[in-house]
Amino acid sequence: MKTLMINCSPKKRLSASAFILDLTGLFMRGNQVKDRLRTGADHRRLLAEMETADNVLFAMPLYVDGVPAHVLPFLQAMEAHCRARDLKKNIYVIANNGFIEGRQNEPLFQIMENFSRRSGLNWCGGLGIGGGVMMNVMRMMVMVFFAISLLNLIIGGVQDSLLQTEAIRNLTRQVLVLIVLGSGILAFDIRLATCLNRGKAYGTHYTRILLPSFIFILCADIFFVIISLFQGGLFRGWLAKKKPTAGKPV
Ligand SMILES: Cc1cc2nc3c(=O)[nH]c(=O)nc-3n(C[C@H](O)[C@H](O)[C@H](O)COP(=O)(O)O)c2cc1C
Repeated sequence: MKTLMINCSPKKRLSASAFILDLTGLFMRGNQVKDRLRTGADHRRLLAEMETADNVLFAMPLYVDGVPAHVLPFLQAMEAHCRARDLKKNIYVIANNGFIEGRQNEPLFQIMENFSRRSGLNWCGGLGIGGGVMMNVMRMMVMVFFAISLLNLIIGGVQDSLLQTEAIRNLTRQVLVLIVLGSGILAFDIRLATCLNRGKAYGTHYTRILLPSFIFILCADIFFVIISLFQGGLFRGWLAKKKPTAGKPV
């Protein structure tokens, strides 16, 4: 069974879509080909790879309650390609979104189901994940926890076996908490991988990070402030002088 796994996030680094594809890959058997869709230059390569695939798994962010705009021209090209060659592929989608409710991805799945039916492809379903940004926060936290524990060991605990045990216990506790918060995603993702392995229908399922919404909003705000500081400053967008575009109202 060959699965073409397409990361449709336009982000070059740290996309939740890339993370969830890697996670799904851990539970999949058979031949996995991972690729990305960011521009029109990717179309030909992806369509060629698709020829010999049994499953196509798209991972994409939800943009304005739908499929990201740069994915639409690819879907058009894929429709023409598959209809011309009478290709019957199994289509699966993992969509993640910024709001906490995974069900926000429902219109995206309707679009992908309509696309599959129109293209003569086999719609096998999708997994909608709410609070996608937290997947990034959580993977960064694992790295931070690991670094802190290592530092603790180096500074004070190399000789002291009691401190060593304490550091390892702390790290295990923190990682376990993150696994519990992500357990909904993990469980639905393993089920999706099982369906992919058998080429079976998955249906549509929705899950989220298992955090109360008010804590999620706080964590997401802190994450975005840190990310915007690293990527050019908090007020970059607000204070930048905007040049009017010729011929278009600003
Ligand atoms: C242009 C744009 C539109 C978005 N629209 C929505 C939306 O309608 N609903 C939502 O919940 N999140 C929305 N988001 C948030 C993304 O879905 C969210 O950040 C996602 O985790 C990004 O996934 P990625 O890291 O795989 O690219 C939007 C983000 C952008 C940049």
